Amino acid sequence: MKQLKSDACLPTAFAGLKLRSPLIVASGPASHDAKQIRLAERKGAGAVVLKTVCSEKYDNMRYWPRPRYKLLDWDRQINGRSKQFTLYSYEQGYSGTLQAYWDFVRVCKEKSDIAIIGSAFADATADWVDLATHIEENGADAVELDISSPHRPGSLGFETTFVEAIKSVVNSVKIPVWVKLAPGPDVVNQSVAAEQCGAAAVTLCNRMRGIDVDIENQRPILHGYYAGIGGPWAKYYNFMNVAETARAVKIPISATGGVMNAEDVISYVLLGASTIQILSAIMVNGWDVLMEIHAGIRSYMERKRITSLEEIRGKALKKIVRSDEIVRWSGEPKNGPRNEWD
Ligand SMILES: Cc1cc2nc3c(=O)[nH]c(=O)nc-3n(C[C@H](O)[C@H](O)[C@H](O)COP(=O)(O)O)c2cc1C
Repeated sequence: MKQLKSDACLPTAFAGLKLRSPLIVASGPASHDAKQIRLAERKGAGAVVLKTVCSEKYDNMRYWPRPRYKLLDWDRQINGRSKQFTLYSYEQGYSGTLQAYWDFVRVCKEKSDIAIIGSAFADATADWVDLATHIEENGADAVELDISSPHRPGSLGFETTFVEAIKSVVNSVKIPVWVKLAPGPDVVNQSVAAEQCGAAAVTLCNRMRGIDVDIENQRPILHGYYAGIGGPWAKYYNFMNVAETARAVKIPISATGGVMNAEDVISYVLLGASTIQILSAIMVNGWDVLMEIHAGIRSYMERKRITSLEEIRGKALKKIVRSDEIVRWSGEPKNGPRNEWD
């Protein structure tokens, strides 16, 4: 099996952790069982965020509809291999019991050399604390609070109860607490709130909630309810989320959304991200994509004569101009559109 050579690693400090790479496998179906963590390690990931575990109250989230994924618009080529597409899915929490999840965390931590990040979803503060505490007790290096799943019951807003939950988790565990936020106009304010609650990092952003229609049968596709949507196109709005947030908070940002190749990773770093979480590219292109991304980053670093991504982090962010600084063509109002009809 092809595996990343140790000299190809890209050591990265992130929220108190020393990672061998800024590439992190994002929470989802590629981090749902122990063998996948072994693959992630071999293919060069610096960390894995395990599939999100839900509190007992959301027991139904452990049972997934089947099929639960559909690739929409699987047609246009990007870079000859990865394609333009939308990954439409409805997969909620980790499918095992809570005890199975604690064992999962422990086994991954015992067997793997890379950082293991537990991921939790609940609603009552006591449940958030309980999940995070168990994740810590079983050896995880950090915990990510998934307050932003597109499959979460209700709306995707930042509920006031999250403030208390984040603060309580931060006060209850010693490991770093990352908070994963939903995309939307409020990302910057939510990131500031998470920082004020003591979060060690923010993960920007979870996928959007959407729906597609089967017009022949005149019903929603698949399971008949809303779904998570994402794809290569998601990077554009999320580049902006990362840039805006990087200006507003001091805690580091883990970017996630739409990464298909090294260029996408580098763009996120240039806009201020420190680590990059990847999932869809692994699902559609396979695990080797992690090695290809590493190779692409390495060759960019050689071409730009840099030895660490830290040297370029936020460089493009500093060059985003204000809207009143945009150079505009001054002739338009005088010689602009005409109103003659014919
Ligand atoms: C099928 C699927 C399942 C996911 N499950 C979770 C999850 O359990 N917890 C979570 O925080 N994010 C989950 N995500 C979101 C991913 O972790 C990631 O943030 C998102 O897909 C954006 O990255 P990508 O464009 O590289 O896929 C899931 C995404 C997909 C596609």
